[in-house]
Amino acid sequence: MILVTGASGFVGRHVAAALRAAGHVVRGLVRRPETAARAARRGLEPWLGEISDEAALRGAVEGVAAVVHTVAIIRERGAQTFGAVNYQGTVRLLDAAARAGVRRFVHLSALGADAASPYPYLRSKGLGEAAVMAADLGWTVLRPSIIFGPGDEFFGTLAKLSRLSPIVPIVGDGRTRFQPIAVDDVVACVLAALGDDGHARRRYDLAGPDVLTYEELVHLLLATLGRPRLKLLVPVALMRPVAAAMERLMPRPLVTPGQLAMLAVDNVTADNAAPRLLGRPPRSVRGGLAYLRG
Ligand SMILES: NC(=O)c1ccc[n+]([C@@H]2O[C@H](COP(=O)([O-])OP(=O)(O)OC[C@H]3O[C@@H](n4cnc5c(N)ncnc54)[C@H](OP(=O)(O)O)[C@@H]3O)[C@@H](O)[C@H]2O)c1
Repeated sequence: MILVTGASGFVGRHVAAALRAAGHVVRGLVRRPETAARAARRGLEPWLGEISDEAALRGAVEGVAAVVHTVAIIRERGAQTFGAVNYQGTVRLLDAAARAGVRRFVHLSALGADAASPYPYLRSKGLGEAAVMAADLGWTVLRPSIIFGPGDEFFGTLAKLSRLSPIVPIVGDGRTRFQPIAVDDVVACVLAALGDDGHARRRYDLAGPDVLTYEELVHLLLATLGRPRLKLLVPVALMRPVAAAMERLMPRPLVTPGQLAMLAVDNVTADNAAPRLLGRPPRSVRGGLAYLRG
């Protein structure tokens, strides 16, 4: 049996489906009865629990050979802080997994994760990653750049915005560089890592074949959707109060001040392990956004 944490999330859903299709019995850690019911309909064994709940985690890892840990938050809310979820949650899960004798632990980190990062999200992901790499089990850390595919937040939100408005804002100078990777390729890397003990105790950057700026990505998205829109460069300083208000008022803000700040740093790698793990070149985001048309 394989435990997928965050089984209701974007990556977790795709990972769980691929594991099921490969014939594995999959337990999905979810935290709400509605998502548990959905997980059961997708053929998973749902396990209800917060990542902070030690007893739930102890039960979740029982009888499990491998864990794929995808739980993380990109925006904080109340007690759900980056430290509590992305770092402490990972530590708790590792502890439960090690005690239960779990053999393999594939951890979804993020490109740019760094325990010394000035950006709180990336710092918490770096701390989580460091905890995984210090653990006494067969871990593999995967550090994807931005991920595209059905259900993604980055392109999905931009697509929604372009449907609602004749103007698409590009926050900042639009020159931040990304190396998007397809969710199917991330999933294939997870399966490759699980399937070969040679990947234990290794950390891999994962990215697509192309580096595009934020502005080029918006352009690609609008071209894919056939929606000519005015692109408006909006200085970060102008957007900051708007993002702060969204963070205060909306349950799922379009963007937070923390996400705006991270637009200052490129999200690319010179050491992309995806071709090695996949045994082929990863798919390009160019021509890869057609799912947004539906
Ligand atoms: N998406 C990307 O472009 C991208 C890029 C680089 C790295 N990553 C990494 O990939 C992983 C998956 O990202 P994603 O895009 O799939 O995120 P996501 O769609 O937001 O999914 C996050 C999952 O974590 C669950 N979760 C959040 N807080 C929890 C808590 N306190 N207790 C239990 N479960 C909790 C969510 O449950 P609910 O459904 O109940 O909220 C959801 O199932 C993350 O580690 C992320 O850092 C993602």
